[in-house]
Amino acid sequence: MSSSTKPVVKFRKNYKPSPYLIKNTELIFQLFEDHVLVSASLNIESNPKSAESVNLPPMELDGVALELLEISIDDKELSDSDYQLKQDLLIIQPTTAQFNLQTLCKIYPQKNTSLEGLYTSGGKFCTQCEAEGFRKITYYLDRPEIMSAFSVRIEGDQQKYPLLLSNGNPASRGDLTDGRHFVEWHDPFPKPCYLFALVAGDLDCLEDEFTTMNGRKVKLELFVDKGKLDQCQFAMDSLKASMRWDEEKFGREYDLDLYMVVAVSDFNMGAMENKGLNIFNTKYVLANEKTATDADFEGVERVIAHEYFHNWTGNRVTCRDWFQLSLKEGLTVFRDQKFSEDMQSKPVQRIDQVKIIRSAQFAEDSGPMAHPIRPDSYIEMNNFYTVTVYNKGAEVINMMHTLLGEAGFRKGMDLYFERHDGQAVTCEDFVRAMEEANDVDWTQFRNWYSQAGTPLVNVKLTQLGAGQFHLDCEQSCPPTPEQQSKSPFMIPIKTGFLDAAGNSLKFKVEQGDWTDEALLILTENKQSFKIECDAEQIIPSLLRDFSAPIKLAYEYSLTQLATQFASDPNSFNRWDAGQNLMSRLLLSNSPTLSATDKEIVEQAFSAILHDEQLDNALKALAVQLPSLNSLIGQSDKVDLDQLFNKSNQLKQHLAKSLEPVWFSIYNTLAGDNAGARWLRNVALSYLLIASEAQYFELAANQITHATNMTDELAALQVIAKSKNGFESEYVEQFYQKWQNEDLVLDKWFSAQVLNEQDNVIDYIRSSLLEHEKFSIGNPNKVHSVISTFSANNLVQFHHASGAGYALLADLVIQLNQINPQIAGRLATQFNQWKKLDSNRQTLIKSQLSKIISIDALSNDVFEVVDKSLK
Ligand code: PHE
Ligand code: ZN
Repeated sequence: MSSSTKPVVKFRKNYKPSPYLIKNTELIFQLFEDHVLVSASLNIESNPKSAESVNLPPMELDGVALELLEISIDDKELSDSDYQLKQDLLIIQPTTAQFNLQTLCKIYPQKNTSLEGLYTSGGKFCTQCEAEGFRKITYYLDRPEIMSAFSVRIEGDQQKYPLLLSNGNPASRGDLTDGRHFVEWHDPFPKPCYLFALVAGDLDCLEDEFTTMNGRKVKLELFVDKGKLDQCQFAMDSLKASMRWDEEKFGREYDLDLYMVVAVSDFNMGAMENKGLNIFNTKYVLANEKTATDADFEGVERVIAHEYFHNWTGNRVTCRDWFQLSLKEGLTVFRDQKFSEDMQSKPVQRIDQVKIIRSAQFAEDSGPMAHPIRPDSYIEMNNFYTVTVYNKGAEVINMMHTLLGEAGFRKGMDLYFERHDGQAVTCEDFVRAMEEANDVDWTQFRNWYSQAGTPLVNVKLTQLGAGQFHLDCEQSCPPTPEQQSKSPFMIPIKTGFLDAAGNSLKFKVEQGDWTDEALLILTENKQSFKIECDAEQIIPSLLRDFSAPIKLAYEYSLTQLATQFASDPNSFNRWDAGQNLMSRLLLSNSPTLSATDKEIVEQAFSAILHDEQLDNALKALAVQLPSLNSLIGQSDKVDLDQLFNKSNQLKQHLAKSLEPVWFSIYNTLAGDNAGARWLRNVALSYLLIASEAQYFELAANQITHATNMTDELAALQVIAKSKNGFESEYVEQFYQKWQNEDLVLDKWFSAQVLNEQDNVIDYIRSSLLEHEKFSIGNPNKVHSVISTFSANNLVQFHHASGAGYALLADLVIQLNQINPQIAGRLATQFNQWKKLDSNRQTLIKSQLSKIISIDALSNDVFEVVDKSLK
């Protein structure tokens, strides 16, 4: 580690309230072509809640890469001895309990490639302040509990920046000399600085209006690059749907007269919920049938909703400190998931949510970066915007919802808002509101907040006598880096029983009523439930709808799984039984699949595909093999070569043995809705596995005549994956057609990196990374090429030569200085290495060692790699 400052670990247990508060924040931005001047006037008070504040301790303001030009207190300029500039800190010594601090700083947004703080993207200025980016704009108490009323004045060239936007409502505007103008904004809601935003540029705008439940009119404005207005309507409709949904489901109304969304191409994440002025990655705004797939549309709807829902869960009630991130993120993901379930198919949405948990989150939980949804420590906060905090956090909220029911959950939410509106609070405050509104004791439930790792529940069924059974459950949770032993979790297990033909059975748990579904609540390490059920043989249908983020093990016979797959009334478990069946075969010790194994799956697939009741989207999901990522994510050790081999065998077998079925689906299904398109395109991919030579024409024809991006891309994907993918004229034509549509080009890059032939890494290095449309500074491009390759082309990423690992490491090193946040995230792709064979372990370890020894290593990369090497 040779960086200038040694990384500092921050601990949750060391939290102390800030000795000072900032009541009002007035900012003036003067925008110029190679720099920006930021003047700040801060009304500061000592904090009555801080024990230290009586003595007026020194005040430490955060600041990174700022040139301090002027500083005064209560209009008196400070001399050099009145303040100290340390690494990333400005220290002053207050002499009164209330004062005004004024600073003038010079910053260089045009050179800011970290995409954090104030930066430029496509000729416009924009900001990203969460988590700790505001300190790159001006000296401040950059922590979320400091909530301040902001007034902002922006000055800039009238021609280049006709739009000058910030949070809240515009207060005044006017002309200045030299072709410049200004706009002033005032945000009446005190907010933490991470929710501050500024945008300046020349953009097109789609305008609309929303009338709230109380009849207030809200102006909606969606700003995009010139010429993109025809890709905005869907995002606008999604916004209005989200606003309505939050009123209907949670009684939450929007609070300002204006809601703005700006789309920018260079953005580290999906989007950002800045008060009244969301800033979005273009990927989650721009969409029309020609340019976006059905999956893209869902993504837009989900992220627009997510950011909108933050207005209440995140902005009105925010986090006291960053360890509490899941307070807003877990809850808001839960809310966007429920919204999507209402807008789309509920089981399909649930399956998508669970796939993320089982592949990415289980992997994280079993790797070196494992942390509870409320982490205890971090070096770089940016490394904790994780699937654990977000998606497992949402699962924890979902368990509360399951335990309390819809009405009880709503009561808890109402109490939470009633108590904490306008405050910066903790996860504990949320749990307490839920608990007290419903008069329950969730002492044990809190273990979900404090313990990392994925619990495993082993379930056994024993028959006691006629119609009498015991369901024995035993839970455990493997050690994680900071926690060797775990206390038992409270685990709700939604359960049903089927007879041997797959019919739903009535049953009783302990002294309960007859039912066809029950919620078993596991609280002990070992627990047994008495089941009464009038049947000879019963098949348990466990963890319905994935009622807890755990692994569940039950020794089903393959026939039982096939029965469940064919007929479990719970759609989620029906899909899951299929996944379970295939996982069992693929992860077993035997080096190959037996003929019977393959036939069981074939017959199960055939039944699904011929089931006339089942909708196409569920069919499409059911006939896809569990992803290699989820198989690895769920295992402690994997033999990759064996796994690749067997999964290819199984795909080949299913492609060939069901060839006429795929062919008939492809030819007879009208692709006139998303589900049908999906199934039809799955059929196409099986056909090309069955015989590339024979079916290539179908794909060629489809890519040529497609009228929507879903079909066009599906065809591109199979073509780019084929033997001559790298030289294909169709891949070239796609490029010619879409070369000016950035987001479509991202898909073009991704499709190519999924080719599994040995020359793909050379091709990536020499053609894609060198391509004129590739840009290392653009996170979407890095994602399309490098993350897609290392996360989804596992055969080549894990190539025994180590070339895939070297490629990833080179990019981490290259991005370390350009954009540390993205570099850190890329580096996590090595995190599963301890599950692999010793040859691959050695190869990865040497790449990790190479990374950790470079000069000026960022905290982001250091934290990930250092933990990985431990
Ligand atoms: N808070 C954003 C969201 O969840 C995510 C984000 C985090 C964006 C950090 C940028 C930087 O919607
Ligand atoms: Zn969020």
